[in-house]
Amino acid sequence: MTVDSDSVRYILALESSCDETAAAVIDRDLNPRSNVVASQYELHRDYGGVVPEIASRAHVRRVLPVIDEALKEAGLELSDIGAVAVATQPGLVGSLLVGLTAAKTLALVLDVPLIAVNHIEAHIYACRMAARVDTFPCIGFVVSGGHTNIYDCTSPVDFELIGSTIDDAAGEAFDKVAQILDVGFPGGPAIQKIAESGDPKAIRFPRTFLKEDRLEFSFSGLKTSVLYTANGVPGSHVKPEPLTPQRVADIAASFQAAVVDVLVGKCKQALQQQNRSILCVGGGVAANSLLRHKLEQMARREGVQLFVAPMSLCTDNAAMAAIAWESLDRGHLANLDLDVTPGLVRHRKQKTKVRS
Ligand code: KG4
Ligand code: ZN
Repeated sequence: MTVDSDSVRYILALESSCDETAAAVIDRDLNPRSNVVASQYELHRDYGGVVPEIASRAHVRRVLPVIDEALKEAGLELSDIGAVAVATQPGLVGSLLVGLTAAKTLALVLDVPLIAVNHIEAHIYACRMAARVDTFPCIGFVVSGGHTNIYDCTSPVDFELIGSTIDDAAGEAFDKVAQILDVGFPGGPAIQKIAESGDPKAIRFPRTFLKEDRLEFSFSGLKTSVLYTANGVPGSHVKPEPLTPQRVADIAASFQAAVVDVLVGKCKQALQQQNRSILCVGGGVAANSLLRHKLEQMARREGVQLFVAPMSLCTDNAAMAAIAWESLDRGHLANLDLDVTPGLVRHRKQKTKVRS
């Protein structure tokens, strides 16, 4: 198929990597003409985390209505769509396959190009979209429920993973601590709210690797520390302080402060190590107001330009798949044998793959 990318006016993008079924229509100026997200959080709430089988079944039920809604909201017909983009990695395999199957079908039926999107890179690209200026080269930081990854981004199609977590992701830690404190799911927004009335200095939780010269994260020790602070150390005769509302708020605020210190500290290290002057931050945890505030302070001190994804593009959505325009313009198209890649690829320089 020969594609005149200049003739494409709208990309329809699909996202189903975890527990959000999303579709968006994005125009060539990177404006989302629609951005529809069907969240499944009520289906997973009772389990305190995403259940893969429940997630994929819900995607199957929701993907077509979500696409219809995205087209309706954009005031467009399927025939207006010039290319279809879909998140194919990383994520839950069953979930990713639902979006991919829908995208392939549409691309085939409409006879338009199919474009594979890396979900993590799209989180970083959300900053470029909102900024309306070029944000590359930069340090890209994705801090979400599944990932805490730092990338050296030379261009919008060249991302090198230079730091990640050796155990839990930051968002996962928020979710687990929220479970320990029994304050709700998803944990991030619940912890943030409760932390407002707590003292962030009440408990000195560990800041793993913060002082070490390595771009790695670890949140499992912090999580255990919160567990022991809340419920007591197993086998110890020392009783924990009663979990009054004030104590819960203090633990939440102290936990949040520890996570944010580490996240901001590692961004600073990455900027210095790679000698970059632009930082782009995306992903669900980037919605956290303390993190946003501390990143701004650090960026000002370091003389670095900071772009944080707007709230509407922080948590999972399909509009951030606007990165597909970069692929389309470079002729990086997928074939109909495109598959999902649930795991993380450490370094990716996109290769041109022209659809036959
Ligand atoms: O990017 P996202 O929607 O999904 C993944 O790709 O993982 O991120 C979801 C994560 C959840 O762990 C949620 O608790 C966290 O983002 N989150 C927050 C906040 N809002 C969402 N964490 C801290 N503070 C928030 N305000
Ligand atoms: Zn995400």
